[in-house]
Amino acid sequence: MKPPQYGLHLAEAFAWMSTREAQSIHAIVTDPPYGLKEYTEIEKRKLRAGRGGVWRIPPSFDGCKRSPLPRFTVLDETERSALRSFFAEFATQAMRVLVPGAHIIIATNPLLSHLVYLPLMEAGFEKRGEIIRLVQTLRGGDRPKNAHTEFAGVTVMPRSRWEPWGLFRKPCEGRVQDNLRRWKTGGLRRVSETEPFNDVIQSAPTRPEERSIAPHPSLKPQALMRQVVRAALPLGAGVVLDPFMGAGSTIAAAVAVGYESIGIERDPSYFRMAQEAVPKLAKLATNSHISRRGIAITQDQLDFAEGLAAGPHR
Ligand SMILES: C[S@@+](CC[C@H](N)C(=O)[O-])C[C@H]1O[C@@H](n2cnc3c(N)ncnc32)[C@H](O)[C@@H]1O
Repeated sequence: MKPPQYGLHLAEAFAWMSTREAQSIHAIVTDPPYGLKEYTEIEKRKLRAGRGGVWRIPPSFDGCKRSPLPRFTVLDETERSALRSFFAEFATQAMRVLVPGAHIIIATNPLLSHLVYLPLMEAGFEKRGEIIRLVQTLRGGDRPKNAHTEFAGVTVMPRSRWEPWGLFRKPCEGRVQDNLRRWKTGGLRRVSETEPFNDVIQSAPTRPEERSIAPHPSLKPQALMRQVVRAALPLGAGVVLDPFMGAGSTIAAAVAVGYESIGIERDPSYFRMAQEAVPKLAKLATNSHISRRGIAITQDQLDFAEGLAAGPHR
């Protein structure tokens, strides 16, 4: 069998989408730039120099170097309003390029998800729920800044252990079955004939092996992405778009599950990273294992369990 086709484009997402033929994409799976700020040239320079800015550079623990995290709580009202406009533009472009019944699955975070969801709904997308990625993050859980000992029993925000992915659908033409026949979209692909796609996915932080192939600060794990991307095309037919592909984890997942896909990235060094990383990430095994109780579990679930056992320092 021929490997599935994919196209990578060094371009600004909205400019690319505006020239794409209308109704020619069957799903969008993406992890957009949330702060907007974190991927500006000035903030990327600070990140690459290890000097922080909007990026929180976590200290190392046990010789284990952790990835930087963007600080979303530093956004002011002007920046939040820019974020709403950004997602309004995204929603308009997405509505045009997607076929009826197509899904958008969009990574977000508990602090900002409303700024993404509202513009999508205002543009006419139906909110179909959320996929919850259960993951040990390093967000929150801190005592008040510069008063740690005075308020030793206080946590300012809960330690976050989940990541919401918004699930939206462009309205179907007619019934779901009509839409499936005509456009091959309208539903989500089941895990198997006996198991539907579930909206909670146990996940581990991205494995070091993947990070060494694609050292992008927001690289998503293949074990998660393959489940999400696979679900996005109910009949396994059509084209998946990631307009903010970073190092290409969505595209690699699409190749691994046998789907056609297109990735857009405007940063030349992340674009080159994706060109090299996609075939390598796509080839990685995310094996199933059999648990002690005889239940098939994925590598991601194993990593997740190990992460819980190791505590939040991983
Ligand atoms: C959160 S990261 C995605 C990371 C990706 N999930 C991965 O696993 O590598 C968002 C990416 O969008 C890119 N980006 C930001 N604004 C963009 C735009 N207007 N058009 C295209 N790419 C953009 C950034 O350079 C960044 O690499």
